[in-house]
Amino acid sequence: MLKGKRIILGITGGIAAYKIAFLIRLLKKQGAEVKCILTPASSDFISPLTVSTLSENPAYQQFWNKENGEWTNHVSLGLWADLMVIAPLTANSLAKIAHGYCDNLLLATYLSAKCPVIVAPAMDLDMYSHDTTKNNLSLIEKHGVEIIPAEKGFLASGLEGEGRMAEPETIFKRIEEYFEVGEQLKGKKIIITAGPTYESIDPVRFIGNYSSGKMGYQIAKKCLNRGAEVILVSGPTQQVLVHEKLTLINVRSAEEMLKVVQSHFELCDGGIFAAAVSDYRPAEVEGQKIKKSDDTLTLTLTKNPDILFWAGQQKSKKQWLVGFALETNDAIENATKKLKKKNLDAIVVNTLEDKGAGFGHDTNKITILDLNNNSTKFELTSKKEAAKNILDFITNNLV
Ligand code: CTP
Repeated sequence: MLKGKRIILGITGGIAAYKIAFLIRLLKKQGAEVKCILTPASSDFISPLTVSTLSENPAYQQFWNKENGEWTNHVSLGLWADLMVIAPLTANSLAKIAHGYCDNLLLATYLSAKCPVIVAPAMDLDMYSHDTTKNNLSLIEKHGVEIIPAEKGFLASGLEGEGRMAEPETIFKRIEEYFEVGEQLKGKKIIITAGPTYESIDPVRFIGNYSSGKMGYQIAKKCLNRGAEVILVSGPTQQVLVHEKLTLINVRSAEEMLKVVQSHFELCDGGIFAAAVSDYRPAEVEGQKIKKSDDTLTLTLTKNPDILFWAGQQKSKKQWLVGFALETNDAIENATKKLKKKNLDAIVVNTLEDKGAGFGHDTNKITILDLNNNSTKFELTSKKEAAKNILDFITNNLV
């Protein structure tokens, strides 16, 4: 599976660097082409000769080689690779890649790379649990980097806890997985709706809901990781996602969301509608801030367009459509009705009856229903894992 795949392996200066020799061997055995870039500190932990011998390529270390005056082109290295893996990733190099520093060859290559990047952090437990490290990890994740979390165990400091680099076999498996799914959706264009909608009452107030947008953004990320081009139509959220194949269109209201979907849906291969669209909006939006007067205030609401229903009516035979159903009771029965009424190919059900599922949480518990009355139930997982399960279902059944 890895035959001919081009992998850049970035090695930074942590004790776990010595284990990278095993990773290089695993990759080479499977036929991958490996080029290793070492930061200055990493050669204290693994010798450039070891890296070069195992990878059958030079151990890239500096922008230019003093002996022969040769310059290493970080841009062409970045363009050469199908995948970049940085392992171990120390707290220091993590901070640098999170904030765009490029004072060594590895960092400059990271900034120039067009391919996906996977990192395996490794550091002492206090450093790993520090807020700054967590923020930096979350920042690079938002920029599309895949993180293989550090594991628990004995650390070089003598302490025990979370911070050990994932084992070379785990990193290898993740790389294999990437190549297994990385091109599954290549050439496909997918439209995704995410987040809440805000329906204006007056210039300073709106009707909204607690949707965080996490689920839709995780789905968008998974589609991008599998090679798709994504149009993400997002209501107001705190989520961030950057990717060269992503077109992010920010909207506020259901009507705005509908307009964007209407202008893009026809050219898409499929749609995943995860937005929590407000079913109603104020019938009239006041031009001025509503002043406090009587003890009660009555707002008249009018129905919003059902965006997913619209897409279901437009759907051609070649297109597929997946919706969500958030239910509080009789989840399967209600979701089955929505699946049929909205002319969907599948519906992802989550219910607020399940602890940890639905709005705001980092976790979700989903069931996927399809037109053949199949119901696939998943345990409570992270939204990231739930997104993977949804994408596995789509690629196996709909694409
Ligand atoms: N949806 C939509 N436009 C709307 C309402 C919902 O596109 N105006 C989409 C959602 O993105 C989701 C699916 O329809 O994929 C189901 O949303 P949900 O709120 O569960 O269902 P509703 O059809 O609104 O029904 P109800 O609120 O009565 O349960």
